[in-house]
Amino acid sequence: MEIQPVSDEFGAIVKDVDLANLSGDDFVHIEKAWWKYAVLLFPNQHLTTEEHLSFSNRFGRLECGLRRSTTPSIGRIANIDKDGNLLPIDHLGRRFSIGNSVWHSDSSYKCVGAKASLLLAQVVPEKGGETEWADMRAAHDQLPQSMKDWLQNKTAVHNYSFSHAWHGGLEMLSEEDRKDLPPVEHPLIKVHPDSNRKVLFVGRHASHIIGEDFFGSRKLLRRLTQDATISENTWRHKWQVDDLVIWDNRCVLHRARWFPADQPRAMVRSTVAGDGDNPWAVAN
Ligand code: OGA
Ligand code: MN
Repeated sequence: MEIQPVSDEFGAIVKDVDLANLSGDDFVHIEKAWWKYAVLLFPNQHLTTEEHLSFSNRFGRLECGLRRSTTPSIGRIANIDKDGNLLPIDHLGRRFSIGNSVWHSDSSYKCVGAKASLLLAQVVPEKGGETEWADMRAAHDQLPQSMKDWLQNKTAVHNYSFSHAWHGGLEMLSEEDRKDLPPVEHPLIKVHPDSNRKVLFVGRHASHIIGEDFFGSRKLLRRLTQDATISENTWRHKWQVDDLVIWDNRCVLHRARWFPADQPRAMVRSTVAGDGDNPWAVAN
């Protein structure tokens, strides 16, 4: 196994490893590298759904999707059906994916956000369709001291209904299911449990800051995200089929990049639930 950093502390490529047949020692190395680099790319992984889920499970309990009643499974982010036919442009699944083009941390609209996401490329477009990740530890460290002080005890409201209202997704869930996704609160500055580094926690699901002017604080959240995601803090990856990437939602924002609407793209994703008392986590 070879671990090639893409920068000093953000992003690495792990080569010569088969995630379907991973020794305990190799997993320890991978987990350590993940704590350090936050985003790891594993090229050439030919994983079945079972193998994908079982590798994910080594990082923690899996998270159920949008409905609490479901069991954790692989989610498809695709503009084609299972036979490879392009879905109509206004298909709900396609509209739902549009939201991914805005910087976010997966499931931050849940009371406990996702720990890790593991995205595997099955069909990739010729042009575009990259994913981009931003290091929110670096973003925190770069904030002016006065802003760090101001944010220190502030809390943001993250809200599924807010972030999904503009592109579609609300109709994905019944009223009953949406009751499980009320607005939730997350501190704007978090300490990462594995590295003890401070992190700026924002993203598209954050609607406003508690105790501050509603629209003024929304504007500030946008500006913080913009400043955090400057190119120095990001890694953009052009996918090849069978690339698997794991990222740490506790210290990374990500977004999908544009690609031509008539080019097929299909990704599958598993989600590791946030540790601790988490109603969205399913015991191993
Ligand atoms: C996701 C996501 C980005 C992409 O799966 O959570 O945001 O590039 N995907 O598909
Ligand atoms: Mn996402």
